[in-house]
Amino acid sequence: MADNSPSTGYLVPTRQVRIADLQKKKGTGEKWAMLTAYDYSTARAFAQGGVECLLVGDSAANVVFGYGQTQQVSLDEMVYLAAAVVRGAGNALVIADLPFGTYEASDEQAVVSAAEMMRRSGAAMVKIEGGVRIAPRIRALVTAGIPVCAHIGFTPQSVNALSGFKVQGRGDAADQLLADVRAVAEAGASMVVLEMVPADVAAEATAAVDIPTIGIGAGPETDAQVLVWHDLAAFPADGHRPKFAKQWAQVGEDLTTAASSYKREVAEGTFPAAEHCF
Ligand code: KIV
Repeated sequence: MADNSPSTGYLVPTRQVRIADLQKKKGTGEKWAMLTAYDYSTARAFAQGGVECLLVGDSAANVVFGYGQTQQVSLDEMVYLAAAVVRGAGNALVIADLPFGTYEASDEQAVVSAAEMMRRSGAAMVKIEGGVRIAPRIRALVTAGIPVCAHIGFTPQSVNALSGFKVQGRGDAADQLLADVRAVAEAGASMVVLEMVPADVAAEATAAVDIPTIGIGAGPETDAQVLVWHDLAAFPADGHRPKFAKQWAQVGEDLTTAASSYKREVAEGTFPAAEHCF
């Protein structure tokens, strides 16, 4: 990746990941990774780590804005985050969530919202939640030339309707999950997120469609995996860690330690030292 911008500005792509590249991996069985990102600097770090796809998730409502509910984030807020991520994304494909209330009412509303997101942010694809019930929206977006990532299983925007954070597709509900994955694929979705689905049902859903499945709490058999980056980095240190996430770093603890060391050295008068002075 050409890094012609050591501190600010676009991370210039050398070989942009395309939707077709990720779809091809389904044929070869090569697994790939998606990670959430909400700003320029983390997007840059994750792209430099080789992550193929960055998701500007509406989990931003919680981890960026501190809202109590995913549903509270607006299209405008999401657009600003997505535009920053695109500037740092380098070769990674950027997908942006359409937030709650911006696509459910009609096909027209979905197309207008998605077009605004793509025009103002430069994201390559939008993600919307729902299976069979949302398939007409997916078809309308694809007809308008807008690539779509679907999101089924546990869908956070419907947390109230689903009566909480619960595994979806268990037992008899597996049939609905399979109907959902087929419906979004038939409607033209380019890929589909499966959230909090039993591993065997996710494996069946992955085999049932030609498009890539991206699992989060859906076991090892999906074509790709996605995590909210705060969950892989233990940030903040006292945050909730979902069972399906693993921590590869302790960013929350490190930041708190750094902040308290800084505060102590300022109080002691040992920072700034001679090497920090002009
Ligand atoms: O908003 C988000 O971060 C998501 C992921 C959990 C897939 O939708």
